[in-house]
Amino acid sequence: MNKTNNQEKITSSPEEEILINTLRASAWNEFIGQTKIKKSLHVAISAAKKRAESMEHTLLYGPPGLGKTTLAHLIAKEMGVNIRITSGPAVERAGDLASILTNLEPHDVLFIDEIHRLNKVVEETLYPAMEDFALDIIIGKGPAAKTLRLDLPHITIIGATTRIGLISNPLRDRFGVIHRLSFYTPEDLGVIISQASKKLNFKIGEQETLELAKRARGTPRIALRLLKRVRDMAEFQNTSIINQRLLQETFELLEIDPLGLDDSDRRLLLTIIDKFSGGPVGIETLAATLSEDIGTLEEVIEPYLMQIGFLERTPRGRKVTKNAYDHLGKKVHSQQQLL
Ligand SMILES: Nc1ncnc2c1ncn2[C@@H]1O[C@H](COP(=O)(O)OP(=O)(O)OP(=O)(O)O)[C@@H](O)[C@H]1O
Ligand SMILES: [Mg+2]
Repeated sequence: MNKTNNQEKITSSPEEEILINTLRASAWNEFIGQTKIKKSLHVAISAAKKRAESMEHTLLYGPPGLGKTTLAHLIAKEMGVNIRITSGPAVERAGDLASILTNLEPHDVLFIDEIHRLNKVVEETLYPAMEDFALDIIIGKGPAAKTLRLDLPHITIIGATTRIGLISNPLRDRFGVIHRLSFYTPEDLGVIISQASKKLNFKIGEQETLELAKRARGTPRIALRLLKRVRDMAEFQNTSIINQRLLQETFELLEIDPLGLDDSDRRLLLTIIDKFSGGPVGIETLAATLSEDIGTLEEVIEPYLMQIGFLERTPRGRKVTKNAYDHLGKKVHSQQQLL
């Protein structure tokens, strides 16, 4: 499979994006799992409300599709404030950030998606905005330049990133609340799927729901996407009965195996096995061999493979585990040292 298909794991088609937005959990009770995070957010929100202050700045990180954007919306909703949405690459100049910030109401939420992609100048403008609710504006040039401090409303920055490692320490330190979202259990994904199928007026049995959930790579967005593909298949076959056979046909078409691995997952594992004797192989070499960018490997493909114990990151590079050999029906050669 090529790059486009890997990218597809992150970005969806416009039609799919509409569906995902329609299905976005719009109340806390629809937001399944991540119990600890929900609890901690509730504490922070109710404390802020009691003190009539803005909610603390919050940083949410973790692999794509686990609910970061959804949580930001839910926080704003519970605080009873507006949410303004932007992203790291969209804020090009310090002036862009200043104009966004000065237009917010007190306690509003500014959601900055892909916050690791903010440029340095904009990031440094954000520091006093987060710390002192102030903007430092430089007027004039050279020795005559003066800094003017402008007060801002007390607002909440919610940052989201799939790459916490790329966030600088000074930025990270300015967030009072930091949470890592983790992959979901099949049971939780099952609840998310049945919730969504009800909204779509689409009937799917308990067994079949769990079957779908198991192939969703621990990710709600993938679970919803699979549900949509199953619904398409049912429509195509002019049936309203979702049985094992229909599911199998859908999975085969999408080349998704019983663990939810797709062609790009298998290609990564098989490349390490066949070309690098199971590893360790450095990420740069691996990315070059797969003609894939490092970010996509690290953010999108690897986290789940590590989660299920198929891949390990060692100081000398990536290594495939015995479980992965077994799953792929590959034999381990005696000279290979496996984890
Ligand atoms: N815990 C959950 N319960 C119910 N639905 C969820 C949950 N988490 C995510 N979803 C649904 O999955 C979809 C993707 O979630 P969301 O867009 O919030 O992910 P994200 O972490 O922001 O992804 P990205 O990193 O790609 O921006 C949404 O439709 C959302 O409603
Ligand atoms: Mg998002």
